[in-house]
Amino acid sequence: MLDLVLAIVHHVLIFGIFGILFAELMAERPDMSSATAVRIASIDMWYGIFAGAVVIIGFCRANFGAKGWAYYSHNAFFWAKIVTFAGIGLLSVPPTIAFIRWRKAGVASDDAGIGKVRRYVHVVTSSSAQVAKVPACCEGRVQALAGTIGRAQRNAPRSLRSSPGLAR
Ligand code: HEM
Repeated sequence: MLDLVLAIVHHVLIFGIFGILFAELMAERPDMSSATAVRIASIDMWYGIFAGAVVIIGFCRANFGAKGWAYYSHNAFFWAKIVTFAGIGLLSVPPTIAFIRWRKAGVASDDAGIGKVRRYVHVVTSSSAQVAKVPACCEGRVQALAGTIGRAQRNAPRSLRSSPGLAR
């Protein structure tokens, strides 16, 4: 039950992160108003809160979920996911600094500055989507796939089994 609850919260937070990133992308327009330039820093603060919560819930899943820490602590995909997420965190620092500057100044920078920030947020959004493709359970999926291939080989007709592609 706890595993399911953590998985649901994990998904809700991830959808939240994408919602926030899309809101930022929609707001970062060359013609953005001063009010939007000031407000975008608070939207970005929610990005930070959600990202922090994803890390906390992610580690809770790894510790208290069905597979347990013994499984994840040796799982290269899990650590690759953490490193990628940390890299995305670093990529989101320049936009955050820009948003804080805009809020203090009460106005966004020029079009070139807005374009630069937008490119960063684009990269953060697309890299976050890539993280979804590398769930920590990849290793389990590869093993399941290997098992399916093995079963298919054993059940294949004799004529096919002797073909070079399926020979053991
Ligand atoms: C943008 C960031 C992230 C995205 C898009 C993402 C996405 C996903 C997806 C699609 C799954 C597979 C579905 C599921 O089992 O619920 C998953 C599983 C999981 N994620 Fe994440 N995740 C992110 C960040 C993190 C972080 C930072 C951690 C750890 C601190 C984490 C820990 C886990 C764990 C432990 C699982 C369960 C894998 C398994 O079933 O063995 N995730 N995530």
